[in-house]
Amino acid sequence: MSTRQLMQVFDSEAVTDGDGVKIQRSVVRGALQAFDPFLLLDEMASDEAADYIGGFPEHPHRGFETVTYMLEGTMAHRDHLGNEGLLVSGGVQWMTAGRGVLHSEMPQQDEGRLHGFQLWINLPAAEKMQEPAYREYGPEQIPTLNLGNGSRIKVIAGALEVDGKSVAGPVADVTTRPDYFDIELAAGETLALPIDPDKRVLLYVYRGAVEIDGRPLSQQQLGMLGDGDQVSLSASEDSALLLLAGIPIGEPIANWGPFVMNTREEIEQAIEDYREGRLV
Ligand code: CO
Repeated sequence: MSTRQLMQVFDSEAVTDGDGVKIQRSVVRGALQAFDPFLLLDEMASDEAADYIGGFPEHPHRGFETVTYMLEGTMAHRDHLGNEGLLVSGGVQWMTAGRGVLHSEMPQQDEGRLHGFQLWINLPAAEKMQEPAYREYGPEQIPTLNLGNGSRIKVIAGALEVDGKSVAGPVADVTTRPDYFDIELAAGETLALPIDPDKRVLLYVYRGAVEIDGRPLSQQQLGMLGDGDQVSLSASEDSALLLLAGIPIGEPIANWGPFVMNTREEIEQAIEDYREGRLV
């Protein structure tokens, strides 16, 4: 086994998006290729309704997938086709925007904690203009592997094997073969996971702090790992993190706001389609 090292650490930045929603955003501006096939990771976490109540009123997407995972709280989404869904604590929505969706994502609470993530995963050129699709999973559909000593892994996408036990998440048939694991590791615990060596691996710590081969990664930081076939973690304190892995697409990326395509011309086309009501 060769262990993946922590190559680069990115501090997430505090931004506001939608109608005044406060977010911690992890993205490499001007170098989206760095995270290929991932594009962006947003974390929303607040006990204050004012930080999230505005939600994300109707907006478009084209050319990629959005994965929303709620830890706490409830969000409703609604799209141009009349699809409606309710995301509850522990639930996941996997939306393939494809050629275009117009949707809204709105909190269904005016008090209490809202905590969740939205991950953007790119699509290869051949799939960017496919028809949009949704997959929704309630918390009971997300399997949990208990590691003992207060540690556990929830498997949203992909599969993992630990100590001879294997668990597969509900999301399959995605070209980039993403692994999306939500890991809780108690202070002092260690974890070694085999991960396909062809995949890029990102870690995002949302509570506590971990070490990867002796190098620290702290709350609200995203770490990019190097090559290898195993990820090895130890928790410096009670910690929780997302592990994201996927096959890089290796194509040029052109993006503007909610559109992610391969070329500038395709972005201009998306903007024009949106302005003229032809996106969807
Ligand atoms: Co959206």
